[in-house]
Amino acid sequence: MSRQKIAAGNWKMNKTMEDGIALATAIKNDAVVSDGAQVILAPPSLFLQKVVEATSGHDSIAVAAQNCHQEEKGAYTGEISVGMLQSIGVSHVILGHSERREYFKESNQLLAAKVDRVLSAGLTPIFCCGESLAIRESGEHIAFVANQLQESLFHLTNEQFSNIIIAYEPIWAIGTGVTASKEQAQEMHHEIRGLISKQYGKDLAESTSILYGGSVKPANAKDLFDQPDVDGGLVGGASLKADDFLTIISTL
Ligand code: PGA
Repeated sequence: MSRQKIAAGNWKMNKTMEDGIALATAIKNDAVVSDGAQVILAPPSLFLQKVVEATSGHDSIAVAAQNCHQEEKGAYTGEISVGMLQSIGVSHVILGHSERREYFKESNQLLAAKVDRVLSAGLTPIFCCGESLAIRESGEHIAFVANQLQESLFHLTNEQFSNIIIAYEPIWAIGTGVTASKEQAQEMHHEIRGLISKQYGKDLAESTSILYGGSVKPANAKDLFDQPDVDGGLVGGASLKADDFLTIISTL
């Protein structure tokens, strides 16, 4: 995959079916997506198939799950496999969101297994990383993110890694209204690209899309996305309102 500008909307546990379809339809009808850029919608699992249907025929809109199970299939009551996602036309899976790390105790090791499973089905992981406020204040934020990448991604081959999208999401900026400054985002994205370069070489590092997430809004999206190492955003709250997300898409 080559490096792209991407606006991904993570709906989390929001919307009814009706409201979700209306939102997806509005994005499909009204999105002005610049050449080569991509929009990704990540609705709750229950609505995935309907959102795939509602957006089908639009070349620049893909649909992502917010999670999946690490095993191929079997006795895992309540879980969803990558094969199921693939069978309904889902192309991406968000992995390692900080809410899943915190509330569902997802470890770097578990996420490595999920990354492998998603790649084995030919789907694209959107791998989330990012530090808490306490870690940033301790000055360890770069080492912390480096360790997340090391333990969950850096076992991959070059070819496998070429299918990874990374989302840097500082936990202190998620849902708080406090956005990382464009300098803070650029600094971390540059570090992440440097780590990829060290592990996989400059070409692969340059072709990896690294998104910023954490209180991205219409008012700050352009400033963030204009940073040289910021390739777009993973957007929570502002992706729930068609007008806001459409504005963010238009800044790609
Ligand atoms: P937010 O969420 O945009 O509401 O801060 C981002 C995310 O959690 O992906």
